[in-house]
Amino acid sequence: MKVKVLGSAAGGGFPQWNCNCPMCAGVRSGAINAHARTQSSIAVSSDDVDWVLFNTSPDILTQIQLSGVLQPGRRLRDTGIRSIVLMDAQIDHTTGLLMLREHKQPLSIWCTSAVKEDLSEGNPLFKVLGHYCSIDWHELSADPADYSIPGASTVIFRPLPLISNAPPYSPHRDKPVAGDTVGMQMIDTETGKTLFYAPGLGEMEPHVWDAMQNADVVLVDGTMWTDDEMIERGASEKTARSMGHLPQSGPGGMLEWLDKLPATTRKILIHINNTNPILDENSEQRATLTRHGVEVAQDGLEIEL
Ligand code: MLT
Ligand code: MN
Ligand code: ZN
Repeated sequence: MKVKVLGSAAGGGFPQWNCNCPMCAGVRSGAINAHARTQSSIAVSSDDVDWVLFNTSPDILTQIQLSGVLQPGRRLRDTGIRSIVLMDAQIDHTTGLLMLREHKQPLSIWCTSAVKEDLSEGNPLFKVLGHYCSIDWHELSADPADYSIPGASTVIFRPLPLISNAPPYSPHRDKPVAGDTVGMQMIDTETGKTLFYAPGLGEMEPHVWDAMQNADVVLVDGTMWTDDEMIERGASEKTARSMGHLPQSGPGGMLEWLDKLPATTRKILIHINNTNPILDENSEQRATLTRHGVEVAQDGLEIEL
């Protein structure tokens, strides 16, 4: 399978439109060694023609243009996106759906019933889309089950419930229910290789750790370096953990877990918040990651497995 990173930033993107933190101001002015990034999304394919889109970011139109592969140009109105998987109901993962409203058929959307509920009630995107192309909903179970999803014919998709946090407009905010957020195991039946993808991961539960240990590539939550990073910068009152994101540094942080994986596992962080110092390629935090063999996803990154 081929994985294309369309957007590697967390909500807000990098730089964020209204932010002058050292990272955002630095990438704008060129004062730091960093690349701008769009908001969190990947696409997966078995043949480079049809794709499964994971999350639909507010930057989807730019991402389609830059990807070069999601518009195959076979007829007047066309797309390479066959199916859309939503890992949660957050703004940065779902609002791009409105930009796809001109689709000729209902959008084929795969998500849990908890996510469907949030996108029907708390933020009624699915109802709004009902006035345009409408949606064709396929339920992903919150209990592990195997799916084949049109767009990546050689891949078995296995969603795993994760503890993270539902969006502020969800009735489940701060009261997690199974299916608010999922991670995805993707097993290529031809190559035998496995990817574990989880852009929002708040706690390392045993079933998640199992999936990570069994993966050839882990593409996981890189939102914040420290739990109180946004508070420190004066950017927000929210901690990483309260938003459902495991910080990288410190005891029990993502880096400690990634260190326990086999040396052969490719370890990549994604969904990087604009306050995170790892965005600066010359920072000591980035050097720490490099020493630990951990990569930071960038828009356009392709992973073949
Ligand atoms: C998150 O991942 O916690 C959210 O996307 C934050 C946001 O709303 O930007
Ligand atoms: Mn997010
Ligand atoms: Zn910023």
